[in-house]
Amino acid sequence: MKDSNSSSSSNRTEPIAQNIIKLISNLCFSLFVFSVLIFTVIAITYQPPDPWLQSTPALTNLFTQSENATFRIDSSVLRTGEDLSPSPQDPPLPPPPPSEPLIDITQQQIANSTVNSTADSTAYSTDAQPPSLPACDETLNCSNPRVLIAVQRFNLRAFKSIAFFDYQPPMNGSVPGECDVAWRFRNKRERSWRKYRDFRRFKIAVTDDCRYKVVHAGGWHSGANARRNVTRTGAGRGGKSLPPRASARDDEINDTIPTLGSDTNFRNGKYLYYSRGGDYCKGMNHYLWSFLCGLGEAMFLNRTFVMDLSVCLASTYNPSNKDEEGKDFRYYFDFEHLKETASIVEEGEFLRDWKKWDKTHLKKKKVPVRKVVNHKVTPMQLKKDKSTIIWRQFDAPEPENYWYRVCEGEAAQYVQRPWHAVWKSKRLMNIVTEISGRLDWDFDAVHVVRGEKAQNKELWPHLDYDTSPDVLVEKLKWMVQPWRHLYIATNEPYYNYFDKLRSNYKVHLLDDYKELWGNTSEWYNETTLLNSGKPVEFDGYMRVAVDTEVFYRGKTRVETFYNLTKDCKDGVNTC
Ligand SMILES: *[C@@H]1O[C@H](CO)[C@@H](O)[C@H](O)[C@H]1NC(C)=O
Ligand SMILES: *[C@@H]1O[C@H](CO)[C@@H](O)[C@H](O)[C@H]1NC(C)=O
Ligand SMILES: *[C@@H]1O[C@H](CO)[C@@H](O)[C@H](O)[C@H]1NC(C)=O
Ligand SMILES: *[C@@H]1O[C@H](CO)[C@@H](O)[C@H](O)[C@H]1NC(C)=O
Ligand SMILES: *[C@@H]1O[C@H](CO)[C@@H](O)[C@H](O)[C@H]1NC(C)=O
Ligand SMILES: *[C@@H]1O[C@H](CO)[C@@H](O)[C@H](O)[C@H]1NC(C)=O
Ligand SMILES: *[C@@H]1O[C@H](CO)[C@@H](O)[C@H](O)[C@H]1NC(C)=O
Ligand SMILES: *[C@@H]1O[C@H](CO)[C@@H](O)[C@H](O)[C@H]1NC(C)=O
Ligand SMILES: *[C@@H]1O[C@H](CO)[C@@H](O)[C@H](O)[C@H]1NC(C)=O
Ligand SMILES: *[C@@H]1O[C@H](CO)[C@@H](O)[C@H](O)[C@H]1NC(C)=O
Ligand SMILES: *[C@@H]1O[C@H](CO)[C@@H](O)[C@H](O)[C@H]1NC(C)=O
Repeated sequence: MKDSNSSSSSNRTEPIAQNIIKLISNLCFSLFVFSVLIFTVIAITYQPPDPWLQSTPALTNLFTQSENATFRIDSSVLRTGEDLSPSPQDPPLPPPPPSEPLIDITQQQIANSTVNSTADSTAYSTDAQPPSLPACDETLNCSNPRVLIAVQRFNLRAFKSIAFFDYQPPMNGSVPGECDVAWRFRNKRERSWRKYRDFRRFKIAVTDDCRYKVVHAGGWHSGANARRNVTRTGAGRGGKSLPPRASARDDEINDTIPTLGSDTNFRNGKYLYYSRGGDYCKGMNHYLWSFLCGLGEAMFLNRTFVMDLSVCLASTYNPSNKDEEGKDFRYYFDFEHLKETASIVEEGEFLRDWKKWDKTHLKKKKVPVRKVVNHKVTPMQLKKDKSTIIWRQFDAPEPENYWYRVCEGEAAQYVQRPWHAVWKSKRLMNIVTEISGRLDWDFDAVHVVRGEKAQNKELWPHLDYDTSPDVLVEKLKWMVQPWRHLYIATNEPYYNYFDKLRSNYKVHLLDDYKELWGNTSEWYNETTLLNSGKPVEFDGYMRVAVDTEVFYRGKTRVETFYNLTKDCKDGVNTC
């Protein structure tokens, strides 16, 4: 597998592997699948997967030339469209969507606005005080515009990597002298234009020369009075939702399932429908690789993709060690973004409308369907087909029934996988932002791979030793300064494993933040709503996704491979 640094852009063409290699790789893949089955049966204890973000080229290599069964490590998290690693070859950050305000609040703007609204010390001493503003009064009034300016200035100094947007008027804090302020922000290091909300409590003093000054700033989400009241939208199936509050657009997640509306809308559409294939219950990377092939073909054919939102999560990510069906796509990925980027329709809605149409119309006027039973029928051959529905069926034995087979060979030159359409779920990213926010974006991170790899001395002879507590203390000494906040992203299930590091660092582990997905959390409420009232488990894939994303927000990042051990990521002699 290639290093993730070789990642370039999100919409590159895939390498064209020779047919022979394909054949071999598919054979090996099925062998691998079989071995995983056996492995699953043998494995008794659950090993959380290794938190590692796969780059898309790495994945491409994995699927096109997996002779050496690196596939067993398919328990990693794929870097999705919003965070493909920035590298020199990368195109610059795409422009924000047109609805987004481009400017963040900068020092210059504040400086300009202060001319009118603050009692600047120099201005004040010479000029008479501006009539609209009260004199140097001792009681702080949060509605005074000078308060907001003081807070904005403070934030710019305190959080250099954050771009601030849309400050709300300050609200009173819990006692006089405090004000709560809310704003939206994005971390400048992030590759997406997504914005998040923060609200903090500030203690503000009036100086002798009548300037407002922040003397203390509360932590992440401390300004409860400035918190916007959340109106819930019905996010369940069926797409019935409350009318939106336009101003809250960025705070709320609109992943309702779109409906097709009227009958004629259905008949006038053009659909590409993939029925469930051998990909079902495979790893998440396999899932994405296949899903994006289907979506890519739909885009190529200029059709609406019929999408099954029900995902089967492979056993590797499940504490139960069993494949689990009925997971919702929206637990993991950003359906709202997908809806905006691609033309899709949910399978249930689609089938209902199809049936309804055929029931109410005579034989002759039934919906024209073209069934395609073999993946060897190429997208190019279907380009001219006028049928309302093109229905690809995947009934052949494995590995002939994988969706991604459609995009192999010549098709790879025509069908592009729309990586930009897949972002991680904002609900998961909210947890990531919350953790990073609590650490004030000022922490270092280490990724410690253990689990299955540490036990496999044949492929990773030194890993276990190199990630043992004493050695970690010794090695990190040279890379991370003492008493920094240190976030440890790891698949080591034993919580106290890293206790030795606590005498040098302020150690943080994912499990320290359990309440963020516990039964009192926003995440819990929202996912429960998606799951028609039943609680959703925070599963292994979600853990890895959050763990890895927090890792990537660390200032100094120490990787297991390259930094902690000389072993290769994929076993001996692979690097
Ligand atoms: C697979 O491993 C063998 C030896 O272990 C090596 O010769 C071969 O190049 C490897 N193939 C790939 C694609 O990495
Ligand atoms: C601030 O004012 C200066 C001149 O008064 C102007 O050139 C500049 O563009 C203004 N900046 C912003 C951000 O409005
Ligand atoms: C300052 O106030 C004047 C008049 O009150 C207004 O025209 C001008 O736009 C204001 N400037 C800023 C930067 O707010
Ligand atoms: C606080 O300031 C706002 C805006 O300057 C003003 O409208 C309001 O009357 C002030 N309140 C008090 C109690 O001074
Ligand atoms: C905020 O506090 C000030 C002074 O403590 C008070 O005069 C004002 O009425 C309060 N405003 C609100 C909205 O409670
Ligand atoms: C939220 O709603 C409550 C009651 O409806 C109200 O008292 C409070 O001021 C609201 N808060 C904000 C920030 O709008
Ligand atoms: C959610 O998005 C759909 C389109 O996908 C739109 O029709 C609907 O009005 C939106 N609902 C809210 C609450 O924004
Ligand atoms: C795709 O479909 C849209 C609307 O159905 C049409 O306007 C557009 O020209 C089509 N594009 C291609 C390349 O066929
Ligand atoms: C949340 O979980 C705790 C411990 O698991 C339990 O005691 C509590 O009753 C639960 N609360 C709710 C609201 O479900
Ligand atoms: C979750 O929902 C419960 C019950 O509806 C509510 O009491 C609680 O405040 C909600 N929690 C969050 C964080 O929204
Ligand atoms: C980890 O290794 C990489 C590659 O050798 C290097 O660029 C990076 O600086 C190292 N990180 C630390 C914290 O030493």
